Amino acid sequence: MNNQNTINDIRSKIDIVDLISEYVPLTKKGQYYWGVCPFHNDKNPSMSVDPKRQTYNCWSCHNSGNVFNFIEQIENIDFKEALKFLGERVGITVNNFISATEKKYSKYYDIYDITAKFYQLMLNTESGKNAREYLKKRNIDADTIKEFSIGLALDEKNKLSKYLKEKKYDINTISELGLVNGENDTFINRIMFPLEDRNGRIVGFSGRIYTDTKLSKYMNTKETPIFRKGSCLYHYYASREYVRQEKYAIVMEGFMDVIRASTIGIKNTVALMGTALTEEQISLLKKLSLNIYLCLDGDNPGLDAMLHNGELLEKAGLNVKIIMLKDDDDPDTFILKYGKEKFLSLIESALNYSDFRIERLRNGVDFSSDIELSNYVNNVLKETSEIKDEIRREIILKKLATETNLSYNTLEKKLNEYKKSSNSQNIIANFAIKKDVKYNKYMRASLEFIYYMLINPKVIKVYDNKKIYFINSELRNLAGEISYYYHNYGDIVIADFYTYLNDKKELLVVFEEILKLELDEEISDITIEDYVNAISEYNVRQEIIRLEEIMRKETDELEKAKVAEQIRLLRIGGKKS
Ligand code: UTP
Ligand code: MN
Repeated sequence: MNNQNTINDIRSKIDIVDLISEYVPLTKKGQYYWGVCPFHNDKNPSMSVDPKRQTYNCWSCHNSGNVFNFIEQIENIDFKEALKFLGERVGITVNNFISATEKKYSKYYDIYDITAKFYQLMLNTESGKNAREYLKKRNIDADTIKEFSIGLALDEKNKLSKYLKEKKYDINTISELGLVNGENDTFINRIMFPLEDRNGRIVGFSGRIYTDTKLSKYMNTKETPIFRKGSCLYHYYASREYVRQEKYAIVMEGFMDVIRASTIGIKNTVALMGTALTEEQISLLKKLSLNIYLCLDGDNPGLDAMLHNGELLEKAGLNVKIIMLKDDDDPDTFILKYGKEKFLSLIESALNYSDFRIERLRNGVDFSSDIELSNYVNNVLKETSEIKDEIRREIILKKLATETNLSYNTLEKKLNEYKKSSNSQNIIANFAIKKDVKYNKYMRASLEFIYYMLINPKVIKVYDNKKIYFINSELRNLAGEISYYYHNYGDIVIADFYTYLNDKKELLVVFEEILKLELDEEISDITIEDYVNAISEYNVRQEIIRLEEIMRKETDELEKAKVAEQIRLLRIGGKKS
């Protein structure tokens, strides 16, 4: 049995209504079951469970999927674990197809574990005296050293490699793990911080210099099959119970920030480790909490990073707040200078992300200059036009009106103009706002056509035969995937198709929107033809617009006439079909 079949087999043996009922009480209304969504702060029952499609969908926070998605989120485990979890429930063992890699990795975990213990021992040796002094000078006490398993790589060429060889680990493996480089240890004379994966297993190290040297401040283990810097958040696993208590997580920049915060009892923290925020980190954060406080460095790069990261997080549906530090401080130095109470009150007064954004725009604007003022107003309105929440938009407009002495109505009118232009530009954003968006005829036809591809093979055949081309790449790729899936797996079962799209996030968004269309089951040949015509008419129109643009720029009369003829032919052809 191949993997996809095993997955589908397990899925089909579990009824999603039964499964979700074990976590959330469900009531039947119409064709769906409804319950209070466990993935956001839900007051009404916003989550529907579709017994026919075997999927669930929250109409408020947009969490949706099949039984695997539900279990992943509610049990806070990854896909493989969810598969195992649900496999056990229906008596299907899935150990087999993960064991080969898992076995190989378990040796990796062992080696990192032993290495971490070794480094910790070395910190307490005679030669570790300077490192201990350094930590003491930075106000890191024995408890904290223990809590974060801080260790030391001695100033010797092959201390660790010798030790691991004695333990009978082969040099190739150790080298694959980035612990040795040729004959020598990778980390020499550095204070060592173990890095853990989302399950709390050590998967690498970062070593900090502590003597006067020109070497780079931190050095990390290279990327290995079990460690990628971009998929790692420092202190993630350990922070979970504290985040659960506090109901929010604080994202900081570096190790020392997290470690320092821990010394004053703030442990619901993770660190980015100096990288740009990645998709993987965002989905990890999403599992941690819906409420994320960003507390990066207080300098300009730090503020810019919060601006950028905050946007990514909000787009992912998280509530973002910003903790602003003074000028050159990071959480570490701030806490050292001003103490626990001051830091707590900073958390208390954290800004809403949109307020922070607008505050950044206001930064340095000269309100007595007409040009600067009008630029500022336009920028704020552009920002605001992207905000989905109506109430927040209104609050911002009110503030802006007061602050600039402009009338609320003028600002609102201008805001609506920005809203319109951003709507036609960005289809993904459109999908996200969905309800207040009227799709144009082409878009409507495309979405409905793809909807029917999902539930009726006849429409897939039309797609294949007529070589339907969608202008938007998301639609094009999704239609391609549906056709591919159909030809490889036979039927399209919506709940299984979810899993198939798991690693194609940009298509999932569109797929989920299409599923919400709720159209009739049956489709007539005439309707299919109408869709096809609307889509191709639109393509022709776009082509004409493109050619007209070429014609406008063309100076050679002969060339111009050729293009004009092409346009004429397209016009007749377009009408005929
Ligand atoms: P910082 O330079 O802000 O480090 O880099 P820090 O946390 O304040 O550390 P201290 O206080 O100087 O000891 C933030 C993060 O960027 C990564 C590390 O993960 C660090 O925690 N970084 C920084 C590197 O990976 N390499 C470097 O050379 C520097
Ligand atoms: Mn620092």
